[in-house]
Amino acid sequence: MKFIAFNGSPAGVNSATNRIIEAFLNGAKRGGAQVENYQLSEYKINQCQGCFACWFQSPGKCVMHDDMEKLLRAYQSADVVCFGSPVYSWNMTALLKNFVDRLVPLKSPLITQSEGNFDMIDSEKRVQKYVAISNCGFPGENNFAIIKAAFSCCNPSLEIYRNCGKLLKTKKESVQEVVAEYLNVVEQAGYEMATVGEVCETTQEQLSMPLMTIQEYVQFLGM
Ligand SMILES: Cc1cc2nc3c(=O)[nH]c(=O)nc-3n(C[C@H](O)[C@H](O)[C@H](O)COP(=O)(O)O)c2cc1C
Repeated sequence: MKFIAFNGSPAGVNSATNRIIEAFLNGAKRGGAQVENYQLSEYKINQCQGCFACWFQSPGKCVMHDDMEKLLRAYQSADVVCFGSPVYSWNMTALLKNFVDRLVPLKSPLITQSEGNFDMIDSEKRVQKYVAISNCGFPGENNFAIIKAAFSCCNPSLEIYRNCGKLLKTKKESVQEVVAEYLNVVEQAGYEMATVGEVCETTQEQLSMPLMTIQEYVQFLGM
């Protein structure tokens, strides 16, 4: 089983998002999965031009030749795809959105409908699971509303939304302890996904554990 993460944080390997992704992938690896982690910021990904040549002229192939060729191959080889992004202006980053737009060659011009939702049929039938990973700077859960709505389209098997995300990169030892505790839960989630294909309710609940009170967080930020 292969877990592949695509991190849409412009801060790449040093991002808070990547700390969560790494913990999750470490758990999956412990559970026997093969793992790969792509920092989208390190790749050249042009914007989709909307020409639909990848449907009508050269099915499955984009007319642009950039790093998306490699990333598409990776994407197709995954059993579990993890989309990672910090919240930027209440949404996923432009980097992740651009990547998702460029997945269009994997679709066909045939429409499917389920419970009133319309989508395009996959050009090659794939059985994949999806995981959404995000963190935001503010304490409010409302910051994830748009990202949640966007990811609901792929019916994710697991969603990890971490508020107070600034804490993930702290150098303050007392805070590092609680962050480590949280990342252990994320690791456990990766392990369960790899071994039983889903994350149990207890682990899911622990993923929402507060890292500190809002008052403490505001003090921590020094604002
Ligand atoms: C351009 C920009 C927009 C942001 N917008 C939001 C926002 O709408 N809500 C929020 O809670 N945090 C927002 N943040 C804060 C980031 O989500 C936060 O710093 C996060 O920890 C960055 O994660 P990363 O290290 O994975 O990139 C924004 C940050 C930037 C740079």
